[in-house]
Amino acid sequence: MIKFILNNTEITTNAIPGMVLMDYVRYERNLKGTKIGCREGDCGACTVLIGELKNNELTYTSATSCLTALGNIHNKHIVTVEGTNFDYDPNPIQQAMCDEAGTQCGFCTPGFIVSMAGYALSDKQPNQKNAIAAVDGNICRCTGYKSIERALDRITDLIKDKTDDPIDFVTSKNILPAYFRGIKERLQNLATQSNGQAQPQAESARFLGGGTDLYVQQHDKMVYANIDFLSNKKQLKGITKQGDQCIIGGSSTVTDLITSPVILEYFPKIAEVGKLISSTPIRNIATFAGNFVNGSPIGDFSIFFLALGVIITLSDGETKREVPLDQFYKGYKTLDKKPNEFVESFRFTLPDKNTQFAFEKVSKRTHLDIASVNSAMKLTISGNIITDARISAGGVFAFPLYLLKTSSFLIGKELTEELITEATQLVQTEIAPISDARGTSEYKRLLLSQLIKAHFIKLFPALEIDKLLV
Ligand SMILES: Cc1cc2nc3c(=O)[nH]c(=O)nc-3n(C[C@H](O)[C@H](O)[C@H](O)COP(=O)(O)OP(=O)(O)OC[C@H]3O[C@@H](n4cnc5c(N)ncnc54)[C@H](O)[C@@H]3O)c2cc1C
Ligand code: FES
Ligand code: FES
Repeated sequence: MIKFILNNTEITTNAIPGMVLMDYVRYERNLKGTKIGCREGDCGACTVLIGELKNNELTYTSATSCLTALGNIHNKHIVTVEGTNFDYDPNPIQQAMCDEAGTQCGFCTPGFIVSMAGYALSDKQPNQKNAIAAVDGNICRCTGYKSIERALDRITDLIKDKTDDPIDFVTSKNILPAYFRGIKERLQNLATQSNGQAQPQAESARFLGGGTDLYVQQHDKMVYANIDFLSNKKQLKGITKQGDQCIIGGSSTVTDLITSPVILEYFPKIAEVGKLISSTPIRNIATFAGNFVNGSPIGDFSIFFLALGVIITLSDGETKREVPLDQFYKGYKTLDKKPNEFVESFRFTLPDKNTQFAFEKVSKRTHLDIASVNSAMKLTISGNIITDARISAGGVFAFPLYLLKTSSFLIGKELTEELITEATQLVQTEIAPISDARGTSEYKRLLLSQLIKAHFIKLFPALEIDKLLV
């Protein structure tokens, strides 16, 4: 049995847990405001809000319901566009879209309204940047974004005095319906009544994180699969610091990372990296374990964490073992992982004051696109001598690659322009890119050299090595 609150109604259902939420709300609950666009997480027409208790606080994030399995929403609050409605009049968010002519055919509009409601309910500062970021997963085919931006400005104005309790604020100002006020208590009650979800048969169960890979590639198989819903397991979540180690639960999401106080202390510019990866609703549900295990040669977080020297803890429920991420990949989509082992957590040594980190990604579009080539670099420097280096690269090999030769070459050497040039020549001997839709092999070779130079330019502006890019 899956229990959750759908808008203002408590639901207990024995519907197939592998069914996606979009199909459930449309076909089982007749809530047709949630639209079916791409079914691949790209268009945002199916956006819903997911409210859940974190440290006993209720927080709302947007998600693509076309990729969210019903089993992943147990004990949560789901808000569709109907759940933002008042009885008769449009809510002020809907009204702002009408007044600013932010809607024409209307197909994308419910998704935009839900994302905008998420912005109002969030703890983000009300400003234009955060307003636009809230709808970065919503695409409109016919209106044009200027009128939608104007509607966002109106909404920002409506919530400009938002307090520390956004739920209380939006309900007391009649921006969203009053029932939101009681949701926290209802979720607390639900968690105590609920005896958890039925456990899958362990031997054959498929592990599911956020579903942003599996449901794009294998939707039909997943609906009826025997699934182990790992995103719902609290023991696989959380980002903590223990001594000099950062420990991250395998089911932590990209949003967990970019909002984590531990991470922000050591990587203050992490949000800039986050913005290069998918869109807000995908970042809210996509897990790191899913990125590692998917084994995509251009997986952004595989590249990011390879440079940080991550060590993964695999568990089969009884026995645990550790595997360095740079030894996890054995071939194209071939991993050092038994079928019944899941990624429980992973850890890395937090950088000291002499260590710097950079991530670069080149894709056909700057935002909402997968990489042609990506790369990360961690460099420790003492005086002008490199004492440690780890560089990784994606899109240049059959799997996410730790550049062992190039990294080792840099260690113990003085940081000079010549050294960087030599490193970009050496790197060519340890990669084997293929030509595909993301670029020719020659282009990818050139890109990687340029990205390595870009790391140094970003981290050491005083060196004035910009001319190396030419
Ligand atoms: C619109 C869109 C944009 C995207 N943009 C990007 C992008 O910019 N960069 C990028 O790198 N990726 C991108 N992706 C891909 C995807 O979001 C990421 O790879 C994501 O991290 C996958 O995580 P998930 O939890 O959703 O994986 P899932 O789909 O749940 O699972 C993927 C694989 O991992 C396995 N798995 C999941 N959790 C575990 C676990 N704990 N232990 C063992 N196995 C596990 C599953 O069995 C499956 O084989 C995008 C996807 C979409 C739909
Ligand atoms: S239908 Fe397009 S993102 Fe879900
Ligand atoms: S109003 Fe038609 S797609 Fe946005």
